[in-house]
Amino acid sequence: MKPDLQGRRILITGGAGFIGGNLAHLSLQNGAERVVVYDSLTYAACPETLASIEKSDSFHFVQADVADEESFHRCLQVEKPHRVFHLAAESHVDRSLDNFTPFLHTNIHGTRSVLDATRAWVNKDAPEDFLFLHSSTDEVFGMLSKEGSFSESTPPNPRNPYSATKAAADVLVETWAHAFGIPTIISHSGNNFGPFQFPEKLIPLMIQKALRNEPLPVFGDGSQVRDWIHVHDHVRALCALAEQGKPGSRYCISSEDEHTNLDVVQTVLSCVEKSHSEIEFVTDRPGHDFRYASSNKKICEETNWSPLYTNFRKAIQETVEWYLSNPTWCRAAETQSNYHGERLGLAGYREQSEE
Ligand code: NAD
Ligand code: DAU
Repeated sequence: MKPDLQGRRILITGGAGFIGGNLAHLSLQNGAERVVVYDSLTYAACPETLASIEKSDSFHFVQADVADEESFHRCLQVEKPHRVFHLAAESHVDRSLDNFTPFLHTNIHGTRSVLDATRAWVNKDAPEDFLFLHSSTDEVFGMLSKEGSFSESTPPNPRNPYSATKAAADVLVETWAHAFGIPTIISHSGNNFGPFQFPEKLIPLMIQKALRNEPLPVFGDGSQVRDWIHVHDHVRALCALAEQGKPGSRYCISSEDEHTNLDVVQTVLSCVEKSHSEIEFVTDRPGHDFRYASSNKKICEETNWSPLYTNFRKAIQETVEWYLSNPTWCRAAETQSNYHGERLGLAGYREQSEE
């Protein structure tokens, strides 16, 4: 069987970020004919992520905003992709608690804009089996108590500003698919970790703080549960859906690997040898969701995908080693973003607008 995406032209919005960057690497490894990354380079982007592929004749980078409909339409006309992977987003929950504006701009206006540009192009110029894959999150489904899991039929119930914009984007995607005949797939993933993740997210933040012998801030009592997936498993799942998924469907992408935050932080600490860091329990995240977990039954039954990273400790150990071996990337991410590990999410919307 040929690798997923072999011979395809693909366009990745948000491809200078964590998941999109890993997807760009895998697509080229799998023999895609052309990989175009469309990204405006926000604080969360790290162009260094693409450094080892940017010289490839099959790779092209476009610096532009997804909310710029004309520019996205032009890109479609020029590149004629078989697959669009829409990953560009403001992705960090704590930042959405501090300032909602960029989330509204990119996740809602931006998604509407790429959908309208695609709508104008799809029935005229697109390859016959064109597909638009939208990356959503398990957070749109709300929060679970200790039992049960989300599935593709769980109704949306977002509970923080970030997930509200992602749920709104999902509704736009399904509406535009229905009204204008765009073939779409929506995927819902849990918490990713692995190479090239910006160190505002739990695992890379804890790795960096542990390497610097700084305290490791655990929100609340650390009992909250997340469903973790290695980013390489996630991008393999996206490639599988791009070839084997059913247009018009939703899929949960999950390794069904649940851990409390405290367990995650203790695992990181045990993997970073010679760290003198200590866990510090800090003020909880406002509206902190207790537990997310999704079933992977549908994607495992309908495609040949299954998770390969099934040993969490080993995967964290490899991730720690990746951060240790890539100081240039780590410095670039920190310098370009001007983010140095400060606590986010407690500024308060009102407080900020009074400044
Ligand atoms: P990220 O924050 O690492 O990267 C986002 C990328 O989007 C950046 O390169 C940024 O420059 C780009 N971007 C932001 N606004 C843009 C705009 N207006 N125009 C063009 N580009 C813009 O995000 P990520 O963690 O790689 O997540 C990718 C997608 O997957 C997002 O849609 C996110 O909601 C979803 N997702 C992420 C996770 C996770 O654990 N990280 C889990 C489930 C779903
Ligand atoms: O569930 C999928 C979502 O996972 C994605 O849609 C989001 O884009 C992604 O950011 C992630 O959201 P979370 O809020 O779960 O990720 P984060 O890494 O910020 O936090 C993970 C958990 O760890 C969460 O319960 C809050 C907690 N936490 C986080 C940080 C940054 C801490 O205890 N301390 C911290 O310093």
